[in-house]
Amino acid sequence: MNIGIIVASTRPNRFGGQIGDWVMNEAKKRSAAHYTLLDLMEINLPFLDEPKLPAQGDYEHESTKQWAKMIGDQDGFLIVTCEYNHSAPGSLKNALDTLFHEWQNKPVSFVGYGAMGGTRAIEDLTRITTNLDMIPQNSSGKGTHIMLFQNLDENGKFSANAHHVASLAKTLDNLEKWTSILKEVRPKLYT
Ligand SMILES: Cc1cc2nc3c(=O)[nH]c(=O)nc-3n(C[C@H](O)[C@H](O)[C@H](O)COP(=O)(O)O)c2cc1C
Repeated sequence: MNIGIIVASTRPNRFGGQIGDWVMNEAKKRSAAHYTLLDLMEINLPFLDEPKLPAQGDYEHESTKQWAKMIGDQDGFLIVTCEYNHSAPGSLKNALDTLFHEWQNKPVSFVGYGAMGGTRAIEDLTRITTNLDMIPQNSSGKGTHIMLFQNLDENGKFSANAHHVASLAKTLDNLEKWTSILKEVRPKLYT
């Protein structure tokens, strides 16, 4: 089964790159799923520029078709998100808004970082992904939250501690379980 790790921040000098790399390195040590890094900074999606509604699935632009293939190939997702003004960054909202069916009936878990571990961004993402017919994993203990400003070394680098590693392992255990279950039943859920 395939799980996409989406790194949301596209900001120059972002912390998201360091955290995305750490998450990807931990994920690569596991054998139950094949993990792919989907970095929105590299993918550089335009703002939604399709004439038809995403739910129609009839994409005109090559950039949308490529994004649809990247997401369609995955069975589940781990979103690595920052928090901007108590919500998710616009880059991520746009990436979610651009598609519909490719997200549907797939689980999504979260790694959040920020002053409060990205919790307010993740609350919003729980509503947004629910409308995309995803199955968000956001009850207590199901995600990983990094209190950014308490976990930087003197050079401003993020260094994961034992709590982060254990929390991410739990997040991935749960995500792999749901990804496996939904991969099996997904064909029956389409009407
Ligand atoms: C536009 C903007 C809004 C922000 N708002 C919040 C916020 O609401 N809550 C929070 O915890 N941090 C907030 N921050 C601080 C971010 O947590 C911090 O800058 C973090 O590094 C952002 O992730 P990034 O570097 O990967 O883009 C904000 C940062 C920016 C740039």
